[in-house]
Amino acid sequence: MLVRLDGNGRLNQRLYRGLRAAIREGRFAPGSRLPSTRSLARDLGLSRNVVLTAFAQLVDEGYAEGRGGSGTFVSSTLPDPLLAPSPYGARTKAPEAHPRLSAHADRVLALAPLPAVGRPPRAGLRYDFRYGVPAVAEFPQQIWSRLVARRARRMSINTLRYGRALGFSPLCEAIADYVRRARGVAATAEQVIIVNGSQQALDLVARLLIDRGARVAIEEPAYLSARQVFAAAGASLLPVPVDEHGIDVSQLPHGKDVRLAYVTPSHQFPLGGVLPLGRRLELLRWADEAGGWVVEDDYDSEFWYDGRPVEAIQGLDSTGRVIYIGTLSKVLFPSLRLGYLIAPEPIVPALAALKFLMDRHAPTFEQEVLADFITEGHFERHVRRARARNASRRAAMLDSFRELLGDRVEIVGENAGIHMVVWLRGTPAACMHDLIARAADRGLGIYSVAPHYLEPPATTGLLLGYACLTEREIRDGVRLLAEVIETLGK
Ligand SMILES: Cc1ncc(COP(=O)(O)O)c(C=O)c1O
Repeated sequence: MLVRLDGNGRLNQRLYRGLRAAIREGRFAPGSRLPSTRSLARDLGLSRNVVLTAFAQLVDEGYAEGRGGSGTFVSSTLPDPLLAPSPYGARTKAPEAHPRLSAHADRVLALAPLPAVGRPPRAGLRYDFRYGVPAVAEFPQQIWSRLVARRARRMSINTLRYGRALGFSPLCEAIADYVRRARGVAATAEQVIIVNGSQQALDLVARLLIDRGARVAIEEPAYLSARQVFAAAGASLLPVPVDEHGIDVSQLPHGKDVRLAYVTPSHQFPLGGVLPLGRRLELLRWADEAGGWVVEDDYDSEFWYDGRPVEAIQGLDSTGRVIYIGTLSKVLFPSLRLGYLIAPEPIVPALAALKFLMDRHAPTFEQEVLADFITEGHFERHVRRARARNASRRAAMLDSFRELLGDRVEIVGENAGIHMVVWLRGTPAACMHDLIARAADRGLGIYSVAPHYLEPPATTGLLLGYACLTEREIRDGVRLLAEVIETLGK
């Protein structure tokens, strides 16, 4: 705490005035504890007697009060009401209502608000079908805390100093090894960049490739947070239709000025199509011809249910035009804020430099714990268990909808991931608001798919996550939803 000692007079008088000013300005709030006389004397290089004398004067004048052995406190009522504290650094002029900002900030402010994913859950929901959230309660917390404690005990100077911009090397190796085996990604550890969630990976990609006005092909509908990153970077967005198999590659825009195509081929977000091999190869041909990039967001590929998952497009790429993004948000927990970007070698130095400018590197300690978690086998064991549990929950969703709503709904995107889209046949999109409100009144959390569209759909579509609910809760929740749908229009 800064206490001014300026002006004339003896030191105890100068200190008294400095402390009084701090109290009047509210820097020491009414009722708060003043620093101890010993620590203040040490910090200001004064004798303790000087400080004791200044404190005594504050107490005498009613600015402070001693409380036995627990220290000296700022009085709750100051001696002169006119001297009531004004906020520290009180303004003499109202702040400018619309200060001039960068074009980037203006574009960000003009974006539609983000959907529910970043907001805290609404209180009082009995069944919350919030999408995108894994079963965090089933995360193996005991194992994780054991690894945290072990790393904390052995923390070395290397953990404490700045780390590598690209990430903690053993973690990069563990990730490269995992995606090679699990996703068919062809990469060395040197191509892996540890990022603070895929959101940062998307931002890095935008900084790397997008100049204002650059053309970006994007799925329609698409993951809103990706679309917004590219829009914020000033890209001109070219929506490409999506069908039950994912992006319709034949409709990709042609021309050398299309910088990239953002795709979610394992489980199109939000509609859930799995991109067939033929389209994957066509997409790579497109990138090669256009001199563009494929940004492959593989956000929930750990959760597949029928047969084996299709391998990542990155593994099929022979021309180095795919930037692969993975996250731990859906398999571990989203607040971990760790993900990875796997890039062709020639662009790794630029990405490392961008990452370094942005935040130096991801926190080392968490990366160390995660590296242990993966290399000691806990990660894949957890993925296998989570997949089995999610498979049962998915089955409960499908059974319940079939039984309770039958032909009234059409379900898409159920073959992978931890969400599905449920279209309410014959229910116009205009009913969505009412439906969500009525559901919330009954303790049911449901979400619209519409924010992920540039051109909102005509029918009511729900984007429902199920990983956080038990099978019982899913059945009860869908029953409640069926009842709420029944009341629509009444
Ligand atoms: C398509 C898609 N990509 C990425 C993510 C994960 O983002 P992050 O890694 O920043 O938590 C999500 C989460 O909802 C998503 O739906």
